[in-house]
Amino acid sequence: MQNELETKLTDAVIARLSDDADPRFRRIMQSLIRHLHDFVREVELTEEEWFEAIKFLTATGQKCDDKRQEFILLSDVLGVSMLVDAINHRRSGATTETTVLGPFFVHGAKEINNGDDMAAGWKGEPTYVAGRVLSTEGTPLAGALLDLWQSNSEGSYDVQLADTGGKQLRAKLRADAEGRFRLRTILPTSYPVPTDGPMGLVLERMGRHPMRPAHLHFMVSAPGYETVVTHLFVKGDPYLESDVVFGVKDSLIVDFKRDESQVEAQKLKVGAAATVTVAGVEKPVEGKVTLISPALDTGSTTVEVWVKVDNKSGVLKPGTSARVSIAAETVNGAVVVPASSILKDDAGKTSVMVVEKGAAKKREVTTGIADGDDIQIVSAVKAGEQVITTGAYGLDDGTKVKVVVADEKKEEPAAGDKKSGEKD
Ligand code: BEZ
Ligand code: FE
Repeated sequence: MQNELETKLTDAVIARLSDDADPRFRRIMQSLIRHLHDFVREVELTEEEWFEAIKFLTATGQKCDDKRQEFILLSDVLGVSMLVDAINHRRSGATTETTVLGPFFVHGAKEINNGDDMAAGWKGEPTYVAGRVLSTEGTPLAGALLDLWQSNSEGSYDVQLADTGGKQLRAKLRADAEGRFRLRTILPTSYPVPTDGPMGLVLERMGRHPMRPAHLHFMVSAPGYETVVTHLFVKGDPYLESDVVFGVKDSLIVDFKRDESQVEAQKLKVGAAATVTVAGVEKPVEGKVTLISPALDTGSTTVEVWVKVDNKSGVLKPGTSARVSIAAETVNGAVVVPASSILKDDAGKTSVMVVEKGAAKKREVTTGIADGDDIQIVSAVKAGEQVITTGAYGLDDGTKVKVVVADEKKEEPAAGDKKSGEKD
C-alpha cells in the first residue's frame, strides 16, 4: 500500500518553486516534476533501476564532445526530437516540411558557388541536386543561404572519420537572383547512427535496428524568414519505413533519378525485353528495345533508348507517363530477400543472418539491384537457405532460433527466388 509521502511528495516539491521564477520556466518545471513522479510511481522503479538510469545518463554525457552529441541521439531515437519538431513547425500548406537536425551539423562549412561539386575527391555515384528557395507566397528568395551536409558513400560523416582533413561533404551555397541553387555531389547512402555509445546498447536492448535511410541534409535561411531544417530522402531506400529517428515524411522523399550513362547503356541490347508500367494500370505492357543511340547527350549525360510496344490494350495514350524496365543482364543464382533482412555495420559492410543448424549465423553479403522492398543478394547465400527477415539486428551471432512457418503461401523466409538483373 502507498504511504502518505508517496502521494504528497509531488506537491511538496512543486510548492518549493518560487513565485518569482520565470513563468515559462515554472510551468515547465511543474509539469516535469509531476510527470517524472508519476512515471516512478507507475513503474514502481527499484533503486537498482534508478541507479542504472543515473549511470546511463552519466555515460551519455561522458560520450559527448565537440564532435559527438549523445544527448541529441538519445532524444532522436526516443522520438522526442521529432515531437518537438512537429509541435514547433506545424505545417501551413505551402511550406517545406521539416525534420531532425541530427548530431552531425557543423558550423562554418566552406562556401561554394552554384554548380560546384560538394564531394570533390570522394568516391560515390555522381549526383546533381537543384532546387529553388521561395517564400510561402511564391516569391524567390534571392541570396537565401543553404547549408548542406551528408554522409559519404560508406555511411560516415566527416566528423566520424579521423583523417578527413577538415570539413568534407558539407557546404554553404547561396541561391541566385531567382532563388535557384544547384550543386554536384555523390549519392547519399543509408547508414547506422553511432552505436558505440550508450544509445547503441539501448537500441540493442529494445531490439531496434540503428539505420537511417539515405538523405541529404538542408538548413535554409534568409533574413526575415523562419529557418527550415530538413532532409531530402532517397526514394526506394529500404529504411524509409523504419528510420531509427522517425524523421521521414512523405513529402521529403524524392526520386533521385538515375541517368543511364553510356557504360550502363552498353549493357542494353536491341531486341531486349522491356516492360512498360503505367500508374494505376495493373497489367504492364510488354515491348522490345528497337534503338540505342550511339551518342551521349552531353547536357543530361543520358543515352536515348527507344522501346516499341504494340499497345493493343490502348493503355498508352499520348502524354501518358510510364516506367520502363529493361532486362539488361541476368545474374544466375542471385537470391532476393526483403530489405529488412539486410544488416549494415558502422563500416558500411552488409550482412544477413542465416539459419544454420538451428542458430542465427551472420554472413557478409554483396547486395545487387534493389526493387521496391526486395534486394538482390549476389554472393554468399544460396537458394533454399533460410534468411532472418525481421528482428535480425537484435540477434547475436550464434543465437539459437526456431523456424516457424506461419503461412504456406506468404511466409517462406527461405532465399529462393532467382531474379534477373533489371535496369530501369
Ligand atoms: C543524421 O541524420 O545525421 C542523424 C540524425 C539523428 C541521429 C543521428 C544522425
Ligand atoms: Fe544524416
